[in-house]
Amino acid sequence: MRGPRGTQDILPGTSEKWQYVEQKLIDICRRYNYKEIRTPIFEHTELFQRGVGDSTDIVQKEMYTFEDRGGRSVTLRPEGTASTVRSFVQNKLFGLPNQPTKLFYIGPMFRYERPQQGRLRQFVQFGIEALGSNDPSVDAEVMALAMSAYEEMGLKSLKLVINSLGDRESREAHKNALIQHFTPYREELCSDCQVRLDHNPLRVLDCKKDREHHAMSSAPSILEYLNETSLEYFEKVKAYLDEMGIPYEVDANLVRGLDYYNHTAFEIMSEAEGFGAITTLSGGGRYNGLVEEIGGPVTSGIGFALSIERLLMALEAEGADLPLEDSLDVYIVALGETSEKEAVNLTYQLRQSGVQVDKDYLQRKMKGQFKAADRLNARYVVVLGERELEQGSVSVKDMSSGEQMELPLKQVIQYFKQKLAGGEE
Ligand code: HAM
Repeated sequence: MRGPRGTQDILPGTSEKWQYVEQKLIDICRRYNYKEIRTPIFEHTELFQRGVGDSTDIVQKEMYTFEDRGGRSVTLRPEGTASTVRSFVQNKLFGLPNQPTKLFYIGPMFRYERPQQGRLRQFVQFGIEALGSNDPSVDAEVMALAMSAYEEMGLKSLKLVINSLGDRESREAHKNALIQHFTPYREELCSDCQVRLDHNPLRVLDCKKDREHHAMSSAPSILEYLNETSLEYFEKVKAYLDEMGIPYEVDANLVRGLDYYNHTAFEIMSEAEGFGAITTLSGGGRYNGLVEEIGGPVTSGIGFALSIERLLMALEAEGADLPLEDSLDVYIVALGETSEKEAVNLTYQLRQSGVQVDKDYLQRKMKGQFKAADRLNARYVVVLGERELEQGSVSVKDMSSGEQMELPLKQVIQYFKQKLAGGEE
């Protein structure tokens, strides 16, 4: 039996990397004061149709949708924003005294895409959402958090690309310009784009098939259609990024693959050599209007999400080493039946005292047990020999110096508690 296409097992050796980066992300959220939210893995299908948008590839082609036994259509979440907003509305978080509501999540998302490196059918997103403020400094904060997440883990070849999609009025004007621009080439566009032209012309700019069509490069840019409010908003976002010294590039063609965006849109790319075909590490933007769409009060929102898979790929491509420890405090070697009993108890007592301990479970000979201790990178080995035990003592070996000493059994716990807390012997 093999796991389904586009899924992966994360095994020991790699899972430590996941734990490290996830913990680091949680730590960054604590500093930026974002609190964790956990929402269900599946939601009513309608949430994503309305939230992510009916005309997006995600909703049209990529959702894991099925009927449950009660005949309701449910969908494995393809992203985290719609669920977060649904929960914000359902739990009336907008009524809490502390606003904006600043949330983060880490969890599996599901998209039926063509799997390739950095693109899976089940992947893990870390994302943040700030709901309830229309201040451009929140936009800058979200980008600052995203960039520092990567930088603090050791990535250097990063590019922050930003754009403004404007407010409703600006987008309407741009949409009409796009229709005018592309209509003469209608028949030359792919069948999807012909539909997009009628329903959501902005999506045409994001088409993978028509990317090379000559009408693409000359398509009207949203930046030419921003009204004064939108322009002013964009200027403030850029000014705050400048203030913090965060470099960025403006790319008028950045449109994002989800329908809920307006004003700020951004992506972070890896420029590391050997990163592969997909260079986008994360993306996000503002989504004023989404909360109302999902049945809540008028509320602004902005957020972003990254996938842990692509983050780890980028770390690998840049050769960034994570400070992971793969060692064991103590390995207990036992020889003979009485010692085995003592070993079970001592292992338990040490673990209860906070020491990281393992022992032999395969009745190996002394040499085999020492080899096992070596493989596990044990810092100390405690040998419970029958003869020593009769005198109430054990021998302790410091594996890095090779030094060995006798210690009364009664003092073993105290000894390691001090030793491993960095205290004196
Ligand atoms: P998205 O651009 O669809 O945005 O996804 C965000 C990130 O998730 C991508 O940049 C990428 O790192 C990762 N990702 C997406 N699909 C896959 C995949 N198949 N395999 C591996 N990684 C993938 C969103 O999902 C928005 N909800 C982001 C957001 C939050 N906007 C506002 N708030």
